Amino acid sequence: MDEQKYAISQYHDTKEIYARLDNLISQPMRPVNREKMQEFLSYFDNQCRRSKDLTDEAKKFIPGGVQHNLAFNYPFPIAIEKVEGAHLWDADGNQYIDFLQAGGPTVLGSNYAPLREKIFELLRSCGPVTGLFHEYELKLAQLVNRYMPSVEMFRMLGSGTEGVMAAIRAARTFTKKKYVIKVGGAYHGWSDQMVYGLHVPGTGRLEAKGIPRGASSATEEFFPNSLSALKRHLMVNRLRGGTAAVIVEPLGPESGTRPVAFDFNQKVRELCDEFGTLLIFDEVVTGFRLGLGGAQGFFGVKPDLTVFGKCISGGYPMAGGVGGRADVMMCFAAGIGGTGERAYIGGTLSANPLSCVAGYYSLLEMERTNAPVIAGRAGDRLTKGLQAVVEKYDLPFVVYNQGSIVHLETSGVMLLDLRNPIRLARELKPRKHMMEEMGAAYMSQGLITLAGSRMYTSMADTDDVIDEALRKFETVLSACA
Ligand SMILES: Cc1ncc(COP(=O)(O)O)c(C=O)c1O
Repeated sequence: MDEQKYAISQYHDTKEIYARLDNLISQPMRPVNREKMQEFLSYFDNQCRRSKDLTDEAKKFIPGGVQHNLAFNYPFPIAIEKVEGAHLWDADGNQYIDFLQAGGPTVLGSNYAPLREKIFELLRSCGPVTGLFHEYELKLAQLVNRYMPSVEMFRMLGSGTEGVMAAIRAARTFTKKKYVIKVGGAYHGWSDQMVYGLHVPGTGRLEAKGIPRGASSATEEFFPNSLSALKRHLMVNRLRGGTAAVIVEPLGPESGTRPVAFDFNQKVRELCDEFGTLLIFDEVVTGFRLGLGGAQGFFGVKPDLTVFGKCISGGYPMAGGVGGRADVMMCFAAGIGGTGERAYIGGTLSANPLSCVAGYYSLLEMERTNAPVIAGRAGDRLTKGLQAVVEKYDLPFVVYNQGSIVHLETSGVMLLDLRNPIRLARELKPRKHMMEEMGAAYMSQGLITLAGSRMYTSMADTDDVIDEALRKFETVLSACA
């Protein structure tokens, strides 16, 4: 009997990771040497002709030719045709090991056959959508409650972005307070109020093109891990309308790219209690990738509200939701059994039977197979192997993982910030380009990563798959200057 319940076998030494990351960005970049990079790039011209033709044509009809912002699309996007388990095949028939895993939802592996069968069954009897109640809505809400007891009530929505919007709306309605505080650099989707301090801490409205100032005037950010800065915001806000919620990615911004200390979430919980503020866990990535209890189960911290995405529908559309304390969640029901004011939410296709059946059976299957833990072990193996390669070639690159979320920082671009604005201005572009090049170099060897610096592993990643991936990574990393 496997006793391990969470994907993380051992929590990292966060201070040590930051020391290594600081060392990485204090050094000159170590990109792939120019000659070898030309060789890697020639793969695309020689072996990806159909992808190129398709995506060139797409540029005429789709802005920029692509609609997914998860993968870097350098030198041009690859068109995918077939997917199974740990592998993808492109339109030219090339095979890849898939460490993007659609951005995280497919912990069971891509296009998992037993789940697909359940979907076919439902489609045959009911079709994908009715606009009316379906039993699987209830079954999924009950299951989430069983895994995460803090989720006393649950609302299925269309995406993580919508889940965040709903959580903030409920928090403001319930507390009657104004401000929402996030961690600088964290990603909580693309709603008007959350396009604030994106990617690079301290950048506030830098990315807020097309968003009126007022939309984010009650959003604030604090530097990752800085509990004193969070406390200062909470104290100031107390004098001017209060803080409705603090929202965190529990592993740290960008799925733990800027990792948190183990006790960070507990300390945020305590501050929220001190200031009468709701704590929102954005578990779009961590629930249920970290384990069926999510990050809240792993860290043993109870949020007031939890945001879901990705895994909540097993990688099938539409993946989003919000859940939590019954008294707060009842804000969404005011007319139907509720007593207070109503926080408005909607969505024609939200909670459709297809999404609910997909979520229900994928979670049950993850429980039956212990998929989060198996995916976590694959992440451990990949991390250890990459660390050995980095050491072998004496590279300053930093490799660490939180179970099935593996970080391979080579350019360090994600670690630049406004505390050193001169370095940020000077190095942002070249380091970003290096990250794109690394992504392309890995792809030329048959490895798909998330933006050249993150990998999601799944239950389909056997030891053989990981070992093959390590050989391919070594081909690239050994060519770094
Ligand atoms: C932590 C986090 N929150 C929210 C979102 C937004 O979810 P969606 O893309 O479903 O809108 C994402 C997406 O990657 C995410 O990683």
